[in-house]
Amino acid sequence: MPTPQINLFKKSNPLLGKVISNVCLTPAPEKAKRPRSEGESAVHRITISLNHDTYPYLIGQSAGVIPPGNDPAKVEKGSPDTSYTIRLYSIASPSHSFGQTKDKIEFVIKRDNVYDGEGNIVHRGVCSNYMCDLKPGEEVILTGPAGKKFILPQSDFDGDFFFCATGTGVAPFFGMVEELLEHKLFRFQGNIYLIYGAPYSDEIVLRDYFEKMQAKHSNFKFITAISREEKNSFDGGKMYISHRLRELSDTIETSLAKNAKIYICGGPKGMEKGVIDEVMAAVKTSLPYEEFKKELEVKEQLFVETY
Ligand SMILES: Cc1cc2nc3c(=O)[nH]c(=O)nc-3n(C[C@H](O)[C@H](O)[C@H](O)COP(=O)(O)OP(=O)(O)OC[C@H]3O[C@@H](n4cnc5c(N)ncnc54)[C@H](O)[C@@H]3O)c2cc1C
Ligand SMILES: NC(=O)c1ccc[n+]([C@@H]2O[C@H](COP(=O)([O-])OP(=O)(O)OC[C@H]3O[C@@H](n4cnc5c(N)ncnc54)[C@H](OP(=O)(O)O)[C@@H]3O)[C@@H](O)[C@H]2O)c1
Repeated sequence: MPTPQINLFKKSNPLLGKVISNVCLTPAPEKAKRPRSEGESAVHRITISLNHDTYPYLIGQSAGVIPPGNDPAKVEKGSPDTSYTIRLYSIASPSHSFGQTKDKIEFVIKRDNVYDGEGNIVHRGVCSNYMCDLKPGEEVILTGPAGKKFILPQSDFDGDFFFCATGTGVAPFFGMVEELLEHKLFRFQGNIYLIYGAPYSDEIVLRDYFEKMQAKHSNFKFITAISREEKNSFDGGKMYISHRLRELSDTIETSLAKNAKIYICGGPKGMEKGVIDEVMAAVKTSLPYEEFKKELEVKEQLFVETY
């Protein structure tokens, strides 16, 4: 049974990967639904050549990236090491990669820019822009793998999965869905509910893939929550993934009693609270929030990766 291996490559002994492809998954700003005053949302799928025997990751783990150059803040402070801090990115390819090969690793990365109220850039995210600008053939400095908890069960499991994602939090679920449904990991027979939230409908990336999987596999449900286009039916406010969970409350109650697993990934940090509140309401628990969360985590029914 595979166990997650961590920190095989560090800043002091990193691994070089070569870019195979870099595809922007979101429309050009002039064609996008996002108003110009809110800036741009650019999400890329980046594929890097990497031998899995050298870098044996499990889907759900993250990889570290060291952007090239010197961190001006460290230079100003006179730090002895002025290189940039490692940024983590969820691995988006299944443990055996798409097509069951073991020679590449993929990421889903958003340019993490900060905009003023008029759509002008105030800060360009250092590493995310470096990654989104990479060209085929260029090399990337990687560390990791990182994380050992946010992974799929490593033995036969026939309960249901609730994958709850906001924004680029969808990255690990891309690989998990492929691994469970296409690679038939651990003879999986349960249902997968992917509940995926984004501000605008054209910022739901990999939609074609998930819709194809839904058409092919009756046990896969692809559910979106488009916060700035849809209103929820409970208070008429923004549609968040938590509202979609409320719509599924009967299913959650039944599934959780049968050992279902809930995975939550994405931002903003703390977003898991709204999701877990809905699960608590669905199962009608009288436990306080922290106790309920801890209990689910101990029973390996709850996995949270928010950033
Ligand atoms: C476990 C984990 C998994 C992750 N997975 C993914 C993933 O799959 N995909 C993905 O896209 N991201 C992911 N992230 C986030 C990623 O690690 C980075 O945090 C993100 O890409 C931003 O890094 P950056 O170097 O581009 O931005 P930085 O330059 O480090 O800036 C980050 C933020 O700091 C603030 N900031 C910094 N400097 C300024 C300034 N001068 N003015 C105003 N604001 C400033 C802003 O809020 C900015 O958005 C993950 C994070 C974690 C912890
Ligand atoms: N991806 C990155 O590069 C990155 C890195 C580090 C940190 N972050 C942080 O993570 C957050 C989202 O990043 P993103 O750009 O990847 O996502 P995104 O595309 O903006 O999608 C996030 C979605 O979650 C919604 N949301 C906000 N609060 C929520 C809550 N409490 N419960 C459920 N849904 C909620 C948002 O709605 P509304 O926005 O319409 O309210 C939006 O629809 C930002 O705060 C960002 O600073 C992102």
